[in-house]
Parts: sequence; C-alpha cells; structure tokens
Amino acid sequence: MIDLFPVSARVEGGELALGGVATSALAEEFGTPLVVYCEETLRTQARAYRAAAPAALVAYGTKAFANVAILRVLAEEGLGADVSTLGEIAFARAAGIPDDRLVLHGNNKSDDELSTAAGALVVLDGPDELERARAAGAARLLVRVTPGVEAETHAAIRTAHEGSKFGLTPDQARELIARDPEILGVHLHVGSQLRSLDEARAAVEALAAFVESCGGWRPRVLDLGGGLAVRYLPEDRVPSVEEYVAAQLSGWSLEPPEQLVLEPGRSLVGRAGVTLYRVGAVKEAGGGVRYAAVDGGMSDNPRPQLYDARVTALVAGRAEEPPDGTYAVSGKHCESGDVLAREVPLASPHPGDLLAVPATGAYTLAMSSNYNGVPRPAVALVSGGDARLIRRRETTEDLLEREVGY
Ligand code: LLP
Repeated sequence: MIDLFPVSARVEGGELALGGVATSALAEEFGTPLVVYCEETLRTQARAYRAAAPAALVAYGTKAFANVAILRVLAEEGLGADVSTLGEIAFARAAGIPDDRLVLHGNNKSDDELSTAAGALVVLDGPDELERARAAGAARLLVRVTPGVEAETHAAIRTAHEGSKFGLTPDQARELIARDPEILGVHLHVGSQLRSLDEARAAVEALAAFVESCGGWRPRVLDLGGGLAVRYLPEDRVPSVEEYVAAQLSGWSLEPPEQLVLEPGRSLVGRAGVTLYRVGAVKEAGGGVRYAAVDGGMSDNPRPQLYDARVTALVAGRAEEPPDGTYAVSGKHCESGDVLAREVPLASPHPGDLLAVPATGAYTLAMSSNYNGVPRPAVALVSGGDARLIRRRETTEDLLEREVGY
C-alpha cells in the first residue's frame, strides 16, 4: 500500500509523512482538501525517462496537470512540454520552457494557437492543417497518424483506433506527406493508462509499416506519445518506464530518426500526487454499506465517475492500524455518483481523520470543476522536510468575482 504513495512517503510515529512532512502538519498549514506533490518522485520519474532515452526530447503531457512550479521542476530535469491550448502554452512558458522544447497538439487548433506556438514542433491533426500551420509560420511539422490500433484501456482514453477524433488516417497522412515532403516526421499516441508492452511495440510496428508505405520519405523526427500506466491499487502491476520505452523502440525497425520525442503525462506526475481530505460524516446506509464522507469529491477528482477509475485510501494519522472493514468513500457533492471509491479497507475512519488518496497527481485537479460552488483545493510541493504552496486554494470570493450583470 505505501508503495502506491510517492517515493518519499514514510510512516513516522504511526502517521503518513510525505517529503519528510507529517500529513497532519500539511493539513494544518494549508487546509484540506489538499493535493500534495512530492518533488523527489517528479525528479525520479523525469530521470527515468531521460535514462531510458538519453537523446530524446521528453515533453511532459501538460494536460495531466498544468502547474508552473511542477513544470519548472521537470524543466530543470531537461524536459519540455506537450501543450494543446493557449493556456497550456502560457503555463509552459511561465515555467521557462523554451519554444523549441514545446510540442503543440490539438484536433482543433485555432489560428491563434498555431501562431502563438509557431516555434514549437507542431503536430498536424487533420488534412487541412498543413496550409494553416505553414501560414502561421510553423516550420517544424509532424503528422499524427491514427493507424487503427485498439489499445486495451478504457474506451474514453483510447486515441489511435479507427474512427478516433485524433490524427489522420494512413491514407490522409500519406497524401499530406506527398504534398509536403518537408514534413519532419510522424507522431503516434495510442491511449492512456496502458499496461501492455506487446501493444506498445505493436503500435510502433504499425507506424513503421505506415512509413514504409510512404515511398522513400523517412521521418527525421519520431514522436511516440505517452500512455504508460500508473498503479492506483495495491494489486495493479505496470511496466517500468525503462521497459515501456524499450518496448516502444523495439517496434521501430527502420533507421533511427535524428530526434526521438516522448510525451509522458500520467507516469511523470501520477504517483507524485496525494490528495488529503478531512473525513466528515461517517454513517451506515441500508444494505450494510458504511460511508466515510470527505470534504471534496468529484469536483477535485472526476476520474471514478468518468472512467470507472478505482483508487484506494489510507487513514493518514493511523497508517499502520489494520482496517476494521471496508468503507465507501463519498464526496460532498449533491450527486449519488459522487463516490471516490466503493470498497476501501479502512481503519475505522472517524470525523476529523485525515484520509490520504494516493496516485492522484494526474488528471484529477487538471479536470476539476466548481460543481456545487466548491472552490478548488490548494496544492503544495514537499521535499526534504519542507512544504511550499504552489497553487493557492480558490475561495468563494474567486467564484463570485466572475459573476457579472446582477
Ligand atoms: N500525448 C498526447 C497526444 C496525448 O493526447 C496525451 C494524453 C499524452 C501524450 C499523455 O498521455 P499519458 O502519458 O498521460 O497517458 N483524462 C484521462 C487521460 C486523457 C489522456 C489525454 N491525452 C484520464 O484521466 O485517464
């Protein structure tokens, strides 16, 4: 269980500590719900990618969590960023990431996005984008190919299947390359939360087969996207960064490209993040279901509802106490489906206890909302016994400030 938490997680005096800081101290200082990121885990994951592919541009999939302090830590490790909106471009630039380390994505890029990120590697996502990208001044172009592979993951996070809204069909991509042989390379992203090494290899094999069908044209840049899974539950098994990247590269039988690009999101930040909630109401419902309700829920983590995603939890102050049974961890929102986890073994949670949910660093706050008028949580970064705020908590006043015309 503890190994689902960041690499710096320890149990000290019976209590969970992150980055050398007791979770009770974190909650005391910053309030709850609080998303805590471990700097050591971010750096460890970034270094694993750098070691797995030393010459590659590793472009963090900013969509997993756009935060300037985190982007800066990753930039210090030599990473760039995969961005897909003006907002993500602004976050990456605020973190000091130069444009030549940006990769611009999007299935519906605006002219504004194209010209703002003209210095980036621009990934064409449709046949008509070539002329628009060139007109916007973009010089380094890739084509996103959708080779028709069905990744073994939740249907909502598959991206390279036939009929996907992303990329070009092999026929369209071939035609585009014939139209502009100056196109630098190809891009492939199969999906997210991927665990299968065989699939990772097969997808790249399909891409290589596509390239071989393009006459003599060869990519100078090869971008293999992201996708590596993280562990959410103790029983989850996932490949290491090294295994995943090696499997991808083993699918490429053609001459090595001048530049390799990787775009990991979840596997860089997922394990680094822990959400701390305060338990409020604890009650027994009909059918023997015991609920422990927390002070957040689907507004800070919509993944259980969107993808039937499963998470686990730990009573942070009594981290070594054996569970007395299973509980459903519910959020505070006015919706029956607002249940973060349906059956979690917990050590008799009581009102006032802190509950720590591991592996919530990716696609949680990134997809958060203000449902029920709930302000978004604060975010802290911990390292070596220190904690600092890297995003302040939203306030009700923030929400009201946007209201006009009344
Ligand atoms: N590159 C491209 C073009 C992408 O679309 C994505 C993710 C990534 C890289 C990073 O993929 P990762 O390494 O994080 O798997 N909200 C969903 C995940 C959506 C993924 C979107 N694209 C979830 O919570 O599972």
